[in-house]
Amino acid sequence: MEEFLWVEKYRPRKVEECVLSQDLKKIFQNVLDKGELQNMMFTGTAGTGKTTVARALCNELDLDYIIINGSEESGIDTLRNKIKQFASSVSLSGGLKVVILDEADYLNPQSTQPALRGFIEEFSANCRFILTCNFKNRIIEPLHSRTSVIEFAMPKKEKEALAGQFMQRVQQILAAESINSEPAVIAELIMKYFPDFRRTLNELQRYSNFGKIDSGILVNANDIALDTLMNALKIKDFRKMRQWVADNIDIEPASMFRKVYDNMNEYVEPQSIPQLVLILADYQYKNSFVADHELNMVACLTEVMAGVKFK
Ligand SMILES: Nc1ncnc2c1ncn2[C@@H]1O[C@H](COP(=O)(O)OP(=O)(O)OP(=O)(O)O)[C@@H](O)[C@H]1O
Ligand SMILES: [Mg+2]
Repeated sequence: MEEFLWVEKYRPRKVEECVLSQDLKKIFQNVLDKGELQNMMFTGTAGTGKTTVARALCNELDLDYIIINGSEESGIDTLRNKIKQFASSVSLSGGLKVVILDEADYLNPQSTQPALRGFIEEFSANCRFILTCNFKNRIIEPLHSRTSVIEFAMPKKEKEALAGQFMQRVQQILAAESINSEPAVIAELIMKYFPDFRRTLNELQRYSNFGKIDSGILVNANDIALDTLMNALKIKDFRKMRQWVADNIDIEPASMFRKVYDNMNEYVEPQSIPQLVLILADYQYKNSFVADHELNMVACLTEVMAGVKFK
């Protein structure tokens, strides 16, 4: 099952186990103390604990909940049926029910998001909604005003303390998995991907196949991977490019577009740069609402391959 992945196996079950800023801890402790859950929107960068906290709150308050993933099930009808069925079934605990709408920024802002506005009101008697998103500006204003918006930020002045707490978690995980490691390497890895804790755990798990965590993990596998991709595009090797996309599907598409943008001067002829920028911007925009991110990425790279001149 998914428990094979450390990020799932070691997902905090309680808010208190999460590494969060003092402000966030206070907010969530308050929710737990009062036992009152309002409609909320959790926003912030990837791997900072939004989905984890949403689930932990429901668990700790013993509330029935469902998780609907906005990037997979974005049609109004599916959404409505799911919510309706869940909201109208009898609650096992007798309390409120919670709909966790994960990745809500992928819900269509023209159709699904406006409909959601209605659902929140329609089911308000026994249902609360927790929306999670990376980009809150992709969520329409009426949904902002119906939820309390909570930013999952890691303030600069708390960075060291938070990294230290996460370091402790990581060391417990490595001990549980019987993996040896060098503390200095772990510390550097955490800082490298901070505040993306998911990424750190995934890198550790991947590297743990070598039996031991050493400084090799700090070599940027991503840079090497970009080189392979650019080379495939240059020689117009379509098969290789598709393979590359499949191999790197765990990289967030938005960060991939950014990575190509940041490194294009190194690989692309100056006269082709404006065109490349337009292509990247176009597909990055589409990325927020396409159903299949892999297909969108391959389409983007195909266009790059066809039109852009490489050095
Ligand atoms: N604040 C945290 N404290 C401890 N572990 C964390 C924290 N944030 C993330 N993790 C680890 O990373 C995994 C993924 O976190 P989670 O799914 O909550 O991220 P997210 O903020 O919802 O990211 P995304 O924006 O990509 O959906 C968790 O299962 C947990 O193992
Ligand atoms: Mg999430």
